[in-house]
Amino acid sequence: MIRTSSRRKILVAVAWPYASGLRHIGHVAGFGVPSDTFARYHRLRGNDVLMVSGTDEHGTPVMVAADAAGESPRETAERFNQLIREDLRDLGLSYDVFTRTTTANHYRVTQDLFRTLHRKGYIVEQETLGAFSASTGHTLPDRYIEGTCPICGFESARGDQCDNCGNQLDPIDLIDPRSRIDGTTPVFKKTKHLFLDLPAFRNQLTEWIEAQNDWRQNVRRFSLNFVKKLKPRAITRDLDWGVPIPLEGYENQEDKRIYVWFDAVIGYLSASIEWAANQGTPDAWREWWQSPEAEHAYFMGKDNIVFHTVIWPSTLLGYGDDGAYGAGQGNLRLPDNIVSSEFLTMEGKKFSSSRGLEILIRDFLSRYDADALRYYLSIAGPETQDTDFTWSEFVRRNNDELVATWGNLVNRTLQSAYKNFKAVPEPGALAEADTELLAAIGHGFETVGSLIEAARFKNALQEVMRLAGLGNQYVTEQAPWTLLESDRQRMGTILYVALKAIDSLKVLLTPFLPFSAQRLHELLGHEGTIAGPLEFRTIAEEDGEEHVVLTGDYESWVGRWEPSELPPGQALLEPVPLFVKLDADKVVADELARMEAAATA
Ligand code: MF3
Ligand code: ZN
Repeated sequence: MIRTSSRRKILVAVAWPYASGLRHIGHVAGFGVPSDTFARYHRLRGNDVLMVSGTDEHGTPVMVAADAAGESPRETAERFNQLIREDLRDLGLSYDVFTRTTTANHYRVTQDLFRTLHRKGYIVEQETLGAFSASTGHTLPDRYIEGTCPICGFESARGDQCDNCGNQLDPIDLIDPRSRIDGTTPVFKKTKHLFLDLPAFRNQLTEWIEAQNDWRQNVRRFSLNFVKKLKPRAITRDLDWGVPIPLEGYENQEDKRIYVWFDAVIGYLSASIEWAANQGTPDAWREWWQSPEAEHAYFMGKDNIVFHTVIWPSTLLGYGDDGAYGAGQGNLRLPDNIVSSEFLTMEGKKFSSSRGLEILIRDFLSRYDADALRYYLSIAGPETQDTDFTWSEFVRRNNDELVATWGNLVNRTLQSAYKNFKAVPEPGALAEADTELLAAIGHGFETVGSLIEAARFKNALQEVMRLAGLGNQYVTEQAPWTLLESDRQRMGTILYVALKAIDSLKVLLTPFLPFSAQRLHELLGHEGTIAGPLEFRTIAEEDGEEHVVLTGDYESWVGRWEPSELPPGQALLEPVPLFVKLDADKVVADELARMEAAATA
């Protein structure tokens, strides 16, 4: 059911891509396109959306990339922050703020949470055996250590967890541990670390997760299982790249930093705080984080689940309404929905750059339209199961569905209306077929809206395409072009109805296909922006450093999640096709050749 109370506050919290490399279409299939569809829909409904993310710039992934490139982690992060935000902009991901984890603001917020949890007794010091790379001397994070699971014998268990039996592990437990970076055997040394006392939250977490009946079943089951075996978890690392530990005795230690996952998830909060400051309304973030009315939806790939259902909620529960930001003004909100996607594979394998099995967002967009990719990922992406990307299926979906169903309906309607009337025709009395079509599409606002709210994007888009199919059927049956001589009035009515139908379908498709929706909006003679350009804005912080955020002027956009009120007489623009039909043989041959070249390069 869609709630009708006005202007809900929706936080759309999107997983932060590592600034360690260019991102491929598998990444945006998981966190990108679904979250943007959700955010655009809620804006069209008139809700207050705050969509936040940024690049995740600390930790080993960035350090490994920096070593490989012969630059500092800061330089690597800088380079990929820029490239990634360009890619996300070109794909039309409409963040209110896409920032980074190396800002002064993020450090301040992270340190306040850390300090507050420590003061409240939720962060405790323990001596532990840490894993270090035998080749570089750097800490080897749990996820970069692989070995045999001591519990079930699975050979590719990770240092933090076995994906086969689901048990939480410590790297030292693994049999035959090895570095996933270079295969060397890690060296274990005694070292002091600070641990987040996860068991202190076990009961609260269990109760909370059990009550989440709307979560995708795998997320709920996986998290509950994880909570059963909670142990304190180290949230510092022996590294020199990360947020400094704000505790006496640690402050000046150059080789210990806060663990990247502890700071990254705090990014949802710190980015919201940054957004409010950038707007000149520094307390505005509280309406999303401390109001009992707000709703939080998180989007990510499935390998990120526990960080969002256990670690981050524990941090939020421990912090409560304390610290500089809680300020006694309300507990920070726990996630409402955790929308996690499965993996996009290529030819049945995980994406891998070394085998040429990788399609970078920027390469894809240099050859095909963003909406063609968004369409494919929404209708055939890994929403509930691992899904294989193939070029032939991409072309088939583009040609047989996007072009043949939706593109065709728009084209034939606009062509005929423009050629014969140049404007939206004045309708006569509506026939039964006319009102039936408009009623069916009108009802779509309810059904498609409910599906998007439930994060069932594939079903939502299938429903819009079914309605576009009804539109085609209507135009074919009514055959307005046959009435040019005999009944121009009826011809005008049919075209009026068809134009109204595509104007409504345009709104239903805007969350999925913003670029073509905006073009159609203009062709129909409307003013204003239903899905306009995104912007980069330079933000100066008090320490004199500047960074660039991806954002947009969404308040000025005009679309509404309502059936079309297309005014008769409105001038139409000369139609141009919305989509490009692809040559299947050529695309498949070209792309396979490119893959082979990449694999042998
Ligand atoms: N950088 C992580 C990854 O790519 C995701 C971090 S999500 C965050 O797997 F919320 F923690 F930031
Ligand atoms: Zn196991």
